[in-house]
Amino acid sequence: MKTSVCIIGGGPSGLMLSQLLHLKGIDTVVLERQSREYVLRRIRAGVLEHGFAALMREAQCGERMDREGEIHDGFIIAHNGKQRRVDLHKYSHGSSVVVYGQTELTRDLYEARDRMNGIIIHNVEDVQLHDLLSANPHVTYRTGDEVARIDCDYIIGADGFHGVSRKSIPKTVLKEYEKVYPFGWLGVLSRTRPVSPELVYARHDRGFALCSLRSQVLSRYYIQVPLTDNIEDWPDDKFWDELKRRLPEEIAARLVTGPSIEKSIAPLRSYVAEPMRYGSLFLAGDAAHIVPPTGARGLNSAASDIYYLYHALLAHYQNNDNTGLDTYSEKALARVWKAQRFSWWMTTMLHTFPESNFYDQKLQQTDLEYLFSSEMAQGALAENYVGLPF
Ligand code: FAD
Ligand code: PHB
Repeated sequence: MKTSVCIIGGGPSGLMLSQLLHLKGIDTVVLERQSREYVLRRIRAGVLEHGFAALMREAQCGERMDREGEIHDGFIIAHNGKQRRVDLHKYSHGSSVVVYGQTELTRDLYEARDRMNGIIIHNVEDVQLHDLLSANPHVTYRTGDEVARIDCDYIIGADGFHGVSRKSIPKTVLKEYEKVYPFGWLGVLSRTRPVSPELVYARHDRGFALCSLRSQVLSRYYIQVPLTDNIEDWPDDKFWDELKRRLPEEIAARLVTGPSIEKSIAPLRSYVAEPMRYGSLFLAGDAAHIVPPTGARGLNSAASDIYYLYHALLAHYQNNDNTGLDTYSEKALARVWKAQRFSWWMTTMLHTFPESNFYDQKLQQTDLEYLFSSEMAQGALAENYVGLPF
């Protein structure tokens, strides 16, 4: 098979790029390791910055998001039993975020690809990238016993953190920056009314907690847990008890509990791979960088990569202009590092670190007190949370 752009990974990054390019007449093939059902079962992001929402609309996939997603103009930070509201609208020149699940937006992207007869090949195994330094790279993969080959102009590595694309860049070229946190997030989805109309990020001596939502009948909650914990260690009752303990009394009293319909533990990690281009291969999204979810930046960082790549490929195919492709890595990384800084800061301010001493604890408390005594500090938080410009 032959295509212009071969995209590895059918997560939000890969599907979004494929859809945007198709709308401009540039053909793509998407290779996805899992089945569609599996991809749509993954519960991940819930908060979209306005830039991501704009990209969904540009991809002609924003209709349901605009109808069912919730606009949030602020969120709550709780600590020492007190609550403070961060007014995103006020401090970011009228901006806001959209609460709309990654599962839903992935479904919208799949449906859009289907309507346009986009090619997405599922259940591919043993994907290999070849001749990346030539102008004629190709990809091979297996489905069952059959081995297939795709010749293309460019390969996009949008296959997440555990994908094959980044690993295809020689170790002598790739520089990796990593910080692993000594805890994870235990997440629970439940068909209950959310405890708060706005998200609540809670710092507590027992560990961080987050109250989020997918809709007015679907809640998403997280608590910080040690990396050694397993799902089996957290039956529903124990989870709800621990969550309540970490929330201000007034919020805990309102909490409606119910059976969990999904429960998972995600380790927290900060990671960046540089460069994001190697010959004909371009990395995008989690394949190149990971943030701890505290700042709700992961998917949103993927969106800016896709925005830069989309415009770079468009300039190449429409005007024979390679400037965007040549500057992609540098441009994408400049924004990626800002998301890294913000996510690290939010994580450090709101979590309990097992190794921290009294000095670290005082600094953490001062960070929170400063935040709420300074409009400039709240402005900096809001500016980053709603998303820096692409
Ligand atoms: P992925 O979603 O990982 O997709 C990659 C795809 O590639 C997958 O479908 C995978 O099956 C496929 N693949 C892997 N290997 C191969 C291979 N060899 N061949 C073919 N296909 C392959 N971000 C936010 O912005 N806001 C939030 O509120 C937020 N909350 C989060 C909460 C949690 C608990 C977690 C874990 C993450 C959260 N994120 C959030 C981050 C967000 O989910 C990710 O950044 C996002 O999924 C990245 O999308 P992606 O398409 O780049 O990668
Ligand atoms: C979520 O709803 O899953 C969510 C929201 C905000 C975050 C992280 C996750 O910072």
